[in-house]
Amino acid sequence: MRDKLKYTVRQLEDCHNIEDFRRLAKRRLPFPMYHYIDGAAEDELSKARNTAAFDDVDLVPDVLVDATKVDPSITVLGRKTALPLILSPTALQRMFHWQGERAVAAAAEKFGLWFGISTVASVSIAEIGANYSGPKLLQYYYHKDRGLNAALLDEARAAKFDAVALTVDTIVAGKRERCKRTGFTSPLKLTPASIASFATHPRWTLNYLFREKFDIPNISPHIDAGTNVETSVQDYFDNMLDPSMNWSNAEKLRDDWGGTFCLKGIMSVGDARRAVAMGADAIMVSNHGGRQLDGARAPFDQLDEIVQAVGGDIEIICDGGVRRGSHVLKSLATGATAASGGRLYLYALAAAGQAGVERALTILQDEITRSMKLMGVSRVDQLTPDHLRRR
Ligand code: FNR
Ligand code: LAC
Repeated sequence: MRDKLKYTVRQLEDCHNIEDFRRLAKRRLPFPMYHYIDGAAEDELSKARNTAAFDDVDLVPDVLVDATKVDPSITVLGRKTALPLILSPTALQRMFHWQGERAVAAAAEKFGLWFGISTVASVSIAEIGANYSGPKLLQYYYHKDRGLNAALLDEARAAKFDAVALTVDTIVAGKRERCKRTGFTSPLKLTPASIASFATHPRWTLNYLFREKFDIPNISPHIDAGTNVETSVQDYFDNMLDPSMNWSNAEKLRDDWGGTFCLKGIMSVGDARRAVAMGADAIMVSNHGGRQLDGARAPFDQLDEIVQAVGGDIEIICDGGVRRGSHVLKSLATGATAASGGRLYLYALAAAGQAGVERALTILQDEITRSMKLMGVSRVDQLTPDHLRRR
């Protein structure tokens, strides 16, 4: 086996794939923040398998097809989008780079992509709605506090968001062992080790200390978590989210929202069928990037079963583990409407802000179109299971 080229990633220009951004984020972030992004639950088996799952399916290309024109665009969740790739919602983004969600939304708008904002975002729904014209999705956490639940929908409606995605795989928090070891909380808990890490990452630390105070504006008016009360994500899930959430709550939320509605975190065929029956517009087949139930099957491994059961009845988004354009094409050839991902842009945000996210999206756009040309397809709806062989 020929040795792979050994190289160092020191700056944005050294990043030529998503793994390079992970390496640059590791250099540029204090370790609590890096491990919050890179970490997952327990033994992190699902996180690892999420990406490895794509390696077990090979692409079978057609050749001698005119490659001068390829159109990777699709329509998903009722909006046209330039790539079959959705930027999944991820929390606390200004904890990773001071530009936070503002950078990701601006990059998503520039590339014509869906942008998913988390309930626990560090920029408000109202600001995102006012400043970014691209398709926007509110990722919705269902709290014990019904006033907060209603306020989130009111904000999304006032901000003219295009869809709501109820996250359904966080009935309790996953066991985030890296966060237990690093003491990651929002706002930050200072420990001797983390103080040393902040001291050796002055660019990040000065931005965190002297720019706009960190907040979680969509929830802080309602609860302390994430503001002046040091709260781990696990505590927030276990104390603030409603563990009694069930299908009738989801159906009422769909009615209260009244717009395009998605369930994020569906894995079983039975639940996919229930999502169709309740009139959801889409499901995100997802295990939360392996951050919840460790040992949960990889979304890409589970995708074919879901497509066989409900393909054509509901839009199916394959979420998690995507690091290459070919992963997106394998998802679509299996029958997904689109793929989505969080770390694929989050490492880049942490490494280099908006310039980082734009470079990552440029790389993924290039890999998607390049692989389409090499596959002999000019539109993504030409991708079928015939283009795949499981090893
Ligand atoms: C997430 N994810 C997530 N999901 C959600 O519904 N609400 C949230 O607030 C967050 N926050 C969050 C933070 C971080 C740091 C990560 C890495 C992930 C899960 C996210 O939406 C998506 O499901 C996974 O990131 C998909 O896996 P990949 O693409 O990161 O491998
Ligand atoms: C996480 C939560 C915030 O995965 O969804 O960290």
